[in-house]
Amino acid sequence: MANDSLPPNQRRFFLTIVLGGLSAVLAAAAGWPVFRFLSSGSAGADVETVEIPRDSVEVGGAHFLTYRGRPVVVLQKAAGEFVAFSAVCTHLGCIVKWVPDPGEFLCPCHAGRFSTDGTVLGGPPPKPLEPIPVVLAGDLLRIG
Ligand code: FES
Repeated sequence: MANDSLPPNQRRFFLTIVLGGLSAVLAAAAGWPVFRFLSSGSAGADVETVEIPRDSVEVGGAHFLTYRGRPVVVLQKAAGEFVAFSAVCTHLGCIVKWVPDPGEFLCPCHAGRFSTDGTVLGGPPPKPLEPIPVVLAGDLLRIG
């Protein structure tokens, strides 16, 4: 019977290399979101804006977009009256949806409800939606 297994010291070396490589991959995977979070807030954080056409948000309607890597919703409450919020629910971070009738934001995860000014109407969210600056500049909405 042929013995084709490695000697114990070579097996140990092989396992050390494999486990070390696996540990490095897991550490990189775990650290990447932290690196992205820290780096997104440092470069140009004060000047970054997003522009969208004014008519992409109808009266009484909402428009969702990504601003600085986060979901944001722009709402036209009445003709020419725009507000914007982070679309991230303040309870556990689900993305809220706009419900035109009755005109409020609903979190699909635990039924949190927010008004058109971002305040909590019901459910478990502890805080209002985070407001985001929005300015009407001609035919554009400047967010941020
Ligand atoms: S995550 Fe929105 S209500 Fe729980």
